[in-house]
Amino acid sequence: MVALMAIKQPASRPANPRFSSGPCAKIPTFDLKNLADAPLGRSHRAAIGKAKLKAAIDGTRDILGIPDEYRIGIVPASDTGAYEMAMWSLLGERAVEMLAWESFGAGWVTDAVKQLKLDARVSIADYGDIVDFSAVDFDKDVCFTWNGTTSGVCLPNGDMIPATREGLTLCDATSAAFAMDLPWDKLDVTTFSWQKVMGGEAAHGMLILSPRAVARLESYTPPWPLPKIFRLTKAGKLIEGIFNGATINTPSMLAVEDYLVALDWARSVGGLTGLIARSNNNANAIAEFVAQHDWIDFLAQDPSTRSTTSVCLKFTDTRIQDGSAFAKAIAKRLTDEAIAFDIGAYRDAPAGLRIWCGATVETNDIQAMLPWLDWAFQLEITSLMQAA
Ligand SMILES: Cc1ncc(COP(=O)(O)O)c(C=O)c1O
Repeated sequence: MVALMAIKQPASRPANPRFSSGPCAKIPTFDLKNLADAPLGRSHRAAIGKAKLKAAIDGTRDILGIPDEYRIGIVPASDTGAYEMAMWSLLGERAVEMLAWESFGAGWVTDAVKQLKLDARVSIADYGDIVDFSAVDFDKDVCFTWNGTTSGVCLPNGDMIPATREGLTLCDATSAAFAMDLPWDKLDVTTFSWQKVMGGEAAHGMLILSPRAVARLESYTPPWPLPKIFRLTKAGKLIEGIFNGATINTPSMLAVEDYLVALDWARSVGGLTGLIARSNNNANAIAEFVAQHDWIDFLAQDPSTRSTTSVCLKFTDTRIQDGSAFAKAIAKRLTDEAIAFDIGAYRDAPAGLRIWCGATVETNDIQAMLPWLDWAFQLEITSLMQAA
């Protein structure tokens, strides 16, 4: 039997052990001093504040390649705020298809069914699977999450969404935006937050609306009351100011500055193409490791649906009896050694690990962390066998 002492620690360590799936690692060049240009203590409605908010909108459009005719707004309460605002403002005009394959998508299902009490057809896939998009009726409104952050399963592309459709598509893209190609012609509402792929600060949500989503807002009034924080129209017209930087309520100008700095960094690494390549390289480094080790596998069943941001892994060694305790012990060892923070699976997800591979993570750090995962596994499995 291998002595625990004989299991040697790897020689090198990741420079940055932050692999959390949100808030995610800051940009590699992050320094608080870089935020010195934030107009703190000034009104967000002063010219300087408005200009910063407008720059955040314009930079988002520019880097993500969002068509000119789409509106982009900065709204309260992060991705949840943006997605809820869209659901509560747009849905109810027609029946809805609710699609989910992990817990955040399931949360939107709960809202549609239990809160809004919509005429909904619900399709839920198990963790690791994705729903069958060929069975979806896109003449209804369709709600889904592009990348299931807690299962590591994402849509491979938008091919299954028809370009011409009667219904609207509402896409929670919070862990996909800036790391995956999003087909804007297939998406009527897209939401995300700053703290994911861009490593920004949690606070505000981004709400992106197609012209058809705007037409719905201007032609349909939901039967339920809408709080001020959700209202996108006034007297039947879109409140255009929201989409030019006149936010509904007070934003954090420090968070805005941080996002602007992250957008500059994104440009410096080659814009969207560079960001996607960085995430892909990170996810590929993990895929190589998984291919070389028979005790670990992806939670995602179909390789084409494997997330390149929130990479979810499960332990497959049949000697493991209590998968949850085993995965937690591995995550704890890696935290205690300051090798990898926050990589335990999400609380509602199957036991395992979740390693953030978004664009702000350096591939060198993923590569330096993986031998430690092997080290932690060997230690845990050996002590398990010795205890047996
Ligand atoms: C897919 C998805 N939707 C929604 C959320 C909630 O985002 P926020 O905390 O920015 O509101 C998260 C957070 O991890 C997420 O991953």
